[in-house]
Amino acid sequence: MSRGIDRRDFLDRGWKTGIVMLSAAGFWTSWDVLRPLPGSGLGGVVNTIPANDVPGSTAVYVRTAQTYLTKIDDEVVALWQKCPHLGCRVAWCETSGEFECACHGSRFNRAGEVRSGPSPRGMDRFAVAAEGDLVEVDTGAVTEGAPAGSAESIDEPPRGSGCAHA
Ligand code: FES
Repeated sequence: MSRGIDRRDFLDRGWKTGIVMLSAAGFWTSWDVLRPLPGSGLGGVVNTIPANDVPGSTAVYVRTAQTYLTKIDDEVVALWQKCPHLGCRVAWCETSGEFECACHGSRFNRAGEVRSGPSPRGMDRFAVAAEGDLVEVDTGAVTEGAPAGSAESIDEPPRGSGCAHA
């Protein structure tokens, strides 16, 4: 009889422990997703990654600056993640070698120039500078992308299928 009580007691404690752990995990996940990012306020200067780590054939995302860094003709370029159409976050797609907006299907080449879709212009750029080895992105200095229909400045056709499922 005491074995049954022990088992019931054990299960009761197990459930309670599980609920506490699930609550803690849920709280931590919510906090991690919703907390403000340090230095993420646009309008400021953000130190990002070493210039040597900026790729020349793909793009790397820097969340604190809401930007994608890539190199065009050996120059570091910082492309704002915000789609010029209606402001969705544009994503880099490795399989196509393009930036893609899942909201309405705009596509941009690696230099951020519009290839297709409703975006009226290419992705906007932030000013960049060198801070020691690091790339400094000035999110307060924005240059608008070239109007849609402009000639592309790089010769990089899509590599393959896209990632967006708009
Ligand atoms: S918000 Fe990107 S295509 Fe509409």
